[in-house]
Amino acid sequence: MSAPHHDTALSSSPAIELDDVHLTLGEGASRVHVLRGISLAVPAGRSVGVVGPSGSGKSTLLMVMAGLERVDKGCVKLAGEDFSDLDEDGLAAFRGRNIGIVFQSFHLIPNMTALENVAVPLELAGIADAFDKAEAEMKAVGLGERLTHYPSQMSGGEQQRVAMARALAPDPKILVADEPTGNLDGETGTQIADLLFTKQRERGTTLVLVTHDPKLAERCDDMVRVRQGEIEDAGAALVAAQ
Ligand SMILES: Nc1ncnc2c1ncn2[C@@H]1O[C@H](COP(=O)(O)OP(=O)(O)OP(=O)(O)O)[C@@H](O)[C@H]1O
Ligand SMILES: [Mg+2]
Repeated sequence: MSAPHHDTALSSSPAIELDDVHLTLGEGASRVHVLRGISLAVPAGRSVGVVGPSGSGKSTLLMVMAGLERVDKGCVKLAGEDFSDLDEDGLAAFRGRNIGIVFQSFHLIPNMTALENVAVPLELAGIADAFDKAEAEMKAVGLGERLTHYPSQMSGGEQQRVAMARALAPDPKILVADEPTGNLDGETGTQIADLLFTKQRERGTTLVLVTHDPKLAERCDDMVRVRQGEIEDAGAALVAAQ
């Protein structure tokens, strides 16, 4: 006798789970209650576009998901791991292996070659064959001919591809991207977005993408609209089971 099948989201735990997350940043007069009770569940392998006005808390939400910012109240779980159970070293190790991060301004290390930018974080995460993996990842983003270039010797689009290779190299379960096309011209931005979605689908990575570009957000499976630190609107697939 087989049990009746229910929504698979119920049987497999979500890749990202936020439950009533609150976060206040800053001191004194600059204190801001940035996240005001955010609950969200992102099923594994989905892509989610996060949109909302400037200052609504989108980047902060990504920082929380990436374990770069601790919450004041509420619960953050990635791949079943509750961040509050991890100390700083544990969280850094978890991040290194499970979370890829892409920023608007690339954040490459200027005195390292493109290959080193990808390989060194792998080494730090204790991943074997870091330089071989990094080289393969550079080829996967079409930069096999730019291994020994420094960031200043590459175009913006190339630098962002290096940043994507770096984010993807540990084969993270979760990829978060904050305005990854924001500093690029339209055509280059589209190429980066194409690459991002292709890699995400190939690998079954869960992607959370913050963007001001409605067209880019629409390419995601689901959308979340944030306003003043709250979720104004989220696709049905993302509503946390309470
Ligand atoms: N360290 C901090 N101290 C005080 N306030 C902060 C801090 N970081 C962010 N904030 C405030 O939190 C709010 C949300 O910031 P956040 O960067 O998350 O917005 P955002 O939605 O990403 O905006 P944008 O679209 O402009 O990038 C803003 O009002 C910002 O001023
Ligand atoms: Mg932002």
